[in-house]
Amino acid sequence: MTIDEYVKKHIDEEPALLKQLKRDTHVKLLHPRMVSGHLQGRLLKMLVQMICPLNVLELGTYTGYSALCMAEGLEQAGAMIHTVEIDDEMGDFIRNYFEKSEYGDRIRLYIGDATEVIPSFDDAFFDLVFIDADKRRYWDYFESVLPKLRKGGFVIADNTLWSEKILEQPASNDWQTKGVLEFNEKLKDDDRVEKVILPIRDGLTLIRKK
Ligand SMILES: C[S@@+](CC[C@H](N)C(=O)[O-])C[C@H]1O[C@@H](n2cnc3c(N)ncnc32)[C@H](O)[C@@H]1O
Repeated sequence: MTIDEYVKKHIDEEPALLKQLKRDTHVKLLHPRMVSGHLQGRLLKMLVQMICPLNVLELGTYTGYSALCMAEGLEQAGAMIHTVEIDDEMGDFIRNYFEKSEYGDRIRLYIGDATEVIPSFDDAFFDLVFIDADKRRYWDYFESVLPKLRKGGFVIADNTLWSEKILEQPASNDWQTKGVLEFNEKLKDDDRVEKVILPIRDGLTLIRKK
């Protein structure tokens, strides 16, 4: 047994609907590895329970797995996940699962480019932002969501260890690795926030706005 298998055997089980969503993603879609999955999904739910947010923003819905996990963790009356997906062909797949879920009414889906949707929210509206969209634009996302985050609010950025590619010199045309490197380097020196990297799955950076 691997450590990964051991961990998954000793944490809360993955809900049946999410197992089905993951299988469906593997059968029907390209890049199924983008789904957060069992461990990260349970962690996202628990982080939401710890932060107790009223408004959460997710950049990069894909099939809705992480949005459903975060919605499961919402405890305040009227709390909402606002999730943005650029690929309009994903709309039907995502809505189908949100409708099947008992937590679907806590999620609002925006089909569009995150950089165009973010300015439509008021400043300090969000308590938590999950960044999981285009790696090349991570720093732009961060700069544009920071004013929308309340003081003391959190950002969680996914894939910040990027299959360990961040340890090597990226190829000149590897814009995704360059984007993650830029994000990690700029964040390290950013005094507006506190930050810690959790080396689970593909790396999750937890950031707190001072
Ligand atoms: C890694 S997947 C998200 C996985 C999902 N959060 C989960 O954990 O299950 C990244 C998604 O971001 C979307 N995306 C890329 N650029 C985007 C943008 N500028 N605005 C909104 N979504 C974007 C992609 O189409 C893709 O579906």
